[in-house]
Amino acid sequence: SKIKAFQETLLAWYDKEKRDLPWRRDHAPYHVWISEIMLQQTQVQTVIPYYERFMAQFPTVEALANAKESDLMKAWEGLGYYSRARNLQRAAQQLVTDHHGVWPTTAEGLRELAGIGPYTAGAIASIAFGQPVPAVDGNAFRVFSRLLEIDDDIAKPKTRSVFEAAIQRMMPADRPGDFNQAIMDLGSSYMTAKNPDSAHSPVKAFNQAYLDGIEDQFPVKTKK
Ligand code: ADE
Repeated sequence: SKIKAFQETLLAWYDKEKRDLPWRRDHAPYHVWISEIMLQQTQVQTVIPYYERFMAQFPTVEALANAKESDLMKAWEGLGYYSRARNLQRAAQQLVTDHHGVWPTTAEGLRELAGIGPYTAGAIASIAFGQPVPAVDGNAFRVFSRLLEIDDDIAKPKTRSVFEAAIQRMMPADRPGDFNQAIMDLGSSYMTAKNPDSAHSPVKAFNQAYLDGIEDQFPVKTKK
């Protein structure tokens, strides 16, 4: 099928070309979580040294739960959006206190933790726990709107579920985390917001908007 061919093409490319990033050394939920929160408002190249220092200083959920607030804020200095760091510690304390240190393994369960919204829940559930759930951020909106010519307005809250359903149908049951991370790499290499290089993309044959010459029309986003 076309979906199977897309999955195979995307994952073969990812296996060969995936970025070597420190949070991809293993699939520990703590590692996935901290990296995904840092990456929300901050570029990959900026995050790398912060992530490395953070893991050296707070190597476990327990260490983060028990950290001095001033040490945590100092470790976060330069990343901005300090509520992210406060929520990290709150969620670490929830894990220790309410969950006996045992991670919820589903997206719904993860969303109970402070600071974990639909994107982060999908990322952790798929990458750390192998659940076939999408992780819909700006990258995923951009990539799938072009691949599938989805013209729903991504500024509208209701649109998320349209993309989640479309992505769900395209995910392989056996490698959901790699699939989601391959989409992230595609969105930061060939299928960028400005000046995409779709002519050289590994999935150009599956990129309907590119094939129709209307890539610049996606994603559709009205001003709020
Ligand atoms: N951006 C958000 N999450 C990412 C990840 N896991 N790898 C690379 N870039 C990302």
